Amino acid sequence: MDYSSLLIQIANQLYFLNQKGIKYLNIKALPGLEVKSVINGLEEIISKENVISSEPRENITTKKLQKYKENIEELPEIDLITEKSVKVDKNSIHNLKQKNINHNFDQTTNLEDSQIKSVSLSKILEKYRSCQNCALGVTRKKLVFGSGLSNPPVIFIGEGPGADEDVQGEPFVGRAGKLLTKMISAIGIERDDVYITNIVKCRPPGNRNPTPAEISCCLPIIKQQIEILNPKLIVTLGNIPTKTFIPDAPGITKARGKMKQYEKWKIIPTFHPSYLLRNRTAMPLAWDDFKMIMEFTFKITQS
Ligand code: URA
Repeated sequence: MDYSSLLIQIANQLYFLNQKGIKYLNIKALPGLEVKSVINGLEEIISKENVISSEPRENITTKKLQKYKENIEELPEIDLITEKSVKVDKNSIHNLKQKNINHNFDQTTNLEDSQIKSVSLSKILEKYRSCQNCALGVTRKKLVFGSGLSNPPVIFIGEGPGADEDVQGEPFVGRAGKLLTKMISAIGIERDDVYITNIVKCRPPGNRNPTPAEISCCLPIIKQQIEILNPKLIVTLGNIPTKTFIPDAPGITKARGKMKQYEKWKIIPTFHPSYLLRNRTAMPLAWDDFKMIMEFTFKITQS
């Protein structure tokens, strides 16, 4: 996580406390959870500060990506699922490096813009944190709003939280999430440098698909998130998010890897990571989509 994101996290936490009526930071008086989050946040800042104190703060993301680009030829052959599974095509990555050697991600690190967006997102979260607009509100443990950069080049949208996400309140932290995280980092973008969320914010019991009524209830949230985040690219993971934005899209096997438009945003649909865990033969196609995501992201951040 870069310095600006850490600051944003603290701003979010303080905003949250403020909304709860806490006007002064009296550590002893805070409930355990909040104390823990604040302390964790501060610890992260302190350790990051030690590492980056000699670097200009706004350049951390750029530096991280530059490092990746310099090392791109050493990118290990990535085996995400089995010994024999798909390898990242080093030639195409090398060509990409040649084409886009001067990528510049600075525009994604505008601190002031990020803070404004972050506060707007926090306000929406507060509005819906205890939402009971549909039956999922009764069975959920935690509403899973979304996480990541508030000024991201790309957002990834899944279907809805599973059991692990329900407990932790974070999107894509279970098995499918670990695969998604690896795939994102394999194309040279850290998970912290994108935003990840779902169509429905509460876990459908037994991991069933969300119903159309549940999706409509949650739609205002994802629409506001997209409006605020205003990403250069939306990646939809699987049928549900794809059809939510492109109702006449064919099934994901046909829709994947083809760029579409939703209002003013570009969308690339790809397989849901849970599907990839069950259908390993689909991995080569998923890699094609991720290379497309990488090329698009690098191109737009260059222009
Ligand atoms: N599957 C999803 O669609 N979203 C998550 O957050 C986790 C698993």
